Amino acid sequence: MNDESITVDYEQFIPRETGFIFKFIKKDNQFIHTFIEGKLIEKVGLCPDLVIGRSLMEFLPPDQVKRKEVFYEKAWNGEQVNYEGSIGGIHYLAVLNPIRINGETVEVIGTTIDITKEKIREKQAQQMEKLSVVGELAAGIAHEIRNPLTSLKGFAKIVKESVTDQKLIPYLDIMLDEMDRINRIVNEFMFIAKPNENVHFQFMNFSKLITDCIHFMEPQANLKSIKIEFDVKVEIILDCDRNQMKQVLINLLQNAIEATEDNGHFISVSLDEAGGESVMVTIRDKGCGIPESRLKRLFEPFYSTKEKGTGLGLLTCKRIIDLHQGSIDIESQPEEGTVIRILLPRVQNTGTLLIAE
Ligand SMILES: Nc1ncnc2c1ncn2[C@@H]1O[C@H](COP(=O)(O)OP(=O)(O)OP(=O)(O)O)[C@@H](O)[C@H]1O
Ligand SMILES: [Mg+2]
Repeated sequence: MNDESITVDYEQFIPRETGFIFKFIKKDNQFIHTFIEGKLIEKVGLCPDLVIGRSLMEFLPPDQVKRKEVFYEKAWNGEQVNYEGSIGGIHYLAVLNPIRINGETVEVIGTTIDITKEKIREKQAQQMEKLSVVGELAAGIAHEIRNPLTSLKGFAKIVKESVTDQKLIPYLDIMLDEMDRINRIVNEFMFIAKPNENVHFQFMNFSKLITDCIHFMEPQANLKSIKIEFDVKVEIILDCDRNQMKQVLINLLQNAIEATEDNGHFISVSLDEAGGESVMVTIRDKGCGIPESRLKRLFEPFYSTKEKGTGLGLLTCKRIIDLHQGSIDIESQPEEGTVIRILLPRVQNTGTLLIAE
């Protein structure tokens, strides 16, 4: 087969932006690339000059070379080979097709497509599935935990009020705190597993709801001399579940306060129109920030860097925002701070009619 004798428009085979096509031959026991084209090449940190006329070991790290040579060898022996891999944060699916003439492979054509989005979705779906299985279990035993917990809490309070030995008070305080914590975990877990139970969408003054949440969090912020600023340019009416939205804002403000040192820094909240259909809430802090390696783990259940954190706060926020057909985006720089942006549609397509405030 001769490249010059056939003109093939490889672009038509490669979905724009999502893939590349390449060819290789085996010469002197080495696989040499003879062609590469497509938008994905740059995204994975390669360029045609680096690939054409070269073997794998000339442009890939040794562990990847070893793995790929196995696939290349199989394809050269006449098999169609599919494999997945990742370079520079891009997940791809590659297919190697041997071109055989008179029973001999003359070259192999490979196509690679970007499956990063699908991989992320698959991972999220697996995570949610894991959660819903565990959540079913949690929901099932929640009553069993809650009832004895209520009695324990009630009696611990009575004991605290009537105890004469003052040395016992701190222990009782810890017991009460820990019982609150168990209660919170059980509630949050049940919510994550079944967020759409008891949802109640209503049109409401969203600017006021944010102000209420800020007032609620202010005593905690004051303890660290942190000021929470709210910049509201226009009054915005939004279709949402009041309690769930409060939970999102309180969780995010709580995280922002926890991340900020006691030094009189500001946490700023803003509410803006984002096109006619949506609104954007932005929460900025100048706290410790989050390194890139940890950013992708934030929505995992029980992922926490805090001694007393449950690691369910952000996941709960995400579940609520998903339920409101919105999106949450986190941008962060270690030592500089964190910006959380939430995009929410003004109207849910649930035919909400109630108007509050
Ligand atoms: N504003 C922020 N600044 C810095 N790190 C943050 C911020 N928000 C979240 N994080 C990081 O993300 C992790 C997960 O947050 P999440 O709210 O889910 O759990 P948590 O705060 O640890 O526990 P809790 O369930 O009590 O909220 C935190 O432990 C922290 O490391
Ligand atoms: Mg939190």
